Amino acid sequence: MPDSKLINEINRRRTFAIISHPDAGKTTLTEKLLLYGGAIAMAGSVKGKKSDRHAVSDWMEIEKQRGISVTSSVMQFEYEGYCINILDTPGHQDFSEDTYRTLMAVDSAVMVIDAAKGVENQTRKLFKVCVMRHIPIFTFINKLDRDAKNPFELLSQIEDELGIATCPMNWPIGNGVDFKGVYDRETKTVLSYIPNGGQREVEKVEATLLDPSMDRLIGEANHAQLAEDIELLDGASDSLDPERVARGEQSPVYFGSALNNFGVEPFLEGFLKLTSPPLPRVSDKGEVSPFSEDFSAFVFKIQANMNKAHRDRLTFLRICSGKFTRDMEISHVQGGNKRMRLSQPQQMMASEREIINEAYAGDIIGVFDPGIFSIGDTICSPGKELRFEGIPTFAPEHFARIRHKDTMKRKQFVKGTTQIAQEGAIQIFKEPASGMEEVIVGVVGMLQFDVFEHRMRTEYNVEIINEGLPYQYIRWIDNEGIDPKELNLSSDTKIVQDFKDNYLLLFTSEWNIRWALEKNEGLILSEFNKN
Ligand code: G4P
Repeated sequence: MPDSKLINEINRRRTFAIISHPDAGKTTLTEKLLLYGGAIAMAGSVKGKKSDRHAVSDWMEIEKQRGISVTSSVMQFEYEGYCINILDTPGHQDFSEDTYRTLMAVDSAVMVIDAAKGVENQTRKLFKVCVMRHIPIFTFINKLDRDAKNPFELLSQIEDELGIATCPMNWPIGNGVDFKGVYDRETKTVLSYIPNGGQREVEKVEATLLDPSMDRLIGEANHAQLAEDIELLDGASDSLDPERVARGEQSPVYFGSALNNFGVEPFLEGFLKLTSPPLPRVSDKGEVSPFSEDFSAFVFKIQANMNKAHRDRLTFLRICSGKFTRDMEISHVQGGNKRMRLSQPQQMMASEREIINEAYAGDIIGVFDPGIFSIGDTICSPGKELRFEGIPTFAPEHFARIRHKDTMKRKQFVKGTTQIAQEGAIQIFKEPASGMEEVIVGVVGMLQFDVFEHRMRTEYNVEIINEGLPYQYIRWIDNEGIDPKELNLSSDTKIVQDFKDNYLLLFTSEWNIRWALEKNEGLILSEFNKN
């Protein structure tokens, strides 16, 4: 029987990712949440673009320059007995693979939407990735203090474009300069909005729809509109179904303004009530209960040089079961069940790291990694080896030939490209029989090239030459012992190898893929690397 401390600790964990289009307010919302947990002393204008102070969750240089999140950071805080782990995700679809990996490590997701913009073009793919995982999705519709779209329109856009049902938990009263607050559908009360500069203590005035003071509080017109909206909602919208929420089929929706710290607390409380503690995970030995006394975890993220002063590489693990203690021996399954102790286990408060002595299922820990772990690896208690389901890689859609400008920098070039590829930030290939003087880099989104180039320059001190290639499709050759040079291929099809020496073909069009299959009987091509 697992001891009761273990059960309590795991039961109070909530681990979620927060996703949004850039500028929708993810950083601001994260900060307010951290503020509730007392994890940071002050929130408000902590964001970097207008001042030189930067949001605690924005640590990479390029994020500051471009105002987008390109890496996922991890933060932990306590709130009313809960131990909450928030995983930040990149806010751009070009990094949706990174988001997908992060979603593998969480039990639910919060989607932040700008009330003036709704579901935005660039984020459609990102949000769909979330829907694909079938995890509970909570929606926070932000910036009601600005002119906003009609809330009914926002809900139907989420439903139509993402294919997920919605259930508004509260409802906005007016918007922009006329924003008066939100109506809580469960308690049937109004939470009145009083701007206060975004600090924690918000003056709350709660009143029901029938309250005689309501006209004065929110204005006659808003009162009438609200009564009409609520009648419509109660009659027509789905009621909350926690089981559908748990399956990722229905998203509870909250309205508010993160910047003004309005609606954040009701959101957090509703979210905590509806989300579950860490869930069981599928492995090759069956489902693994988080409450098992045997420790298990998997690698979902690797990042080199997070702190330039340290020149290190951190591997992030999601603990799936049991308890981790600092000096315990573990087995690295994909490393041939190698026994080891994890070096400098740490937890994150954004860029602040803290060495930890213990952590539980649901937690994310970072460990110092000399280069042995890969994404998807399982680590667990020795003698209790199992493997968690792998994390799929997305097929790259953009390719470039990359060389270093300065031949003296060969060593750094090889190190940089290899390490960044191990992190999963790019995929690298080579032409058969070529050395490491140049590589072919494949990415899912073009912005990944910019990040790659920037990191090569700032972290590895290498200037690169990037020559775009016209290929859009990649296929692994699955036939054993085939010599690709013997294949009958169209002239614009390219043969390359990955770094495990598997052969692949790069195509410029789907037509060329069909051509290759027709002209080479028995050829087996696959979109994913099975090795
Ligand atoms: P992100 O992480 O999703 O990219 O968004 P972030 O929190 O950085 O917010 C983007 C901008 O939106 C910030 O403005 C932020 O202050 C503002 N914002 C966030 N929540 C609200 C809200 O509820 N109401 C209003 N009115 N604004 C909000 P900024 O720092 O001035 O940056 P920018 O405007 O120069 O991009």
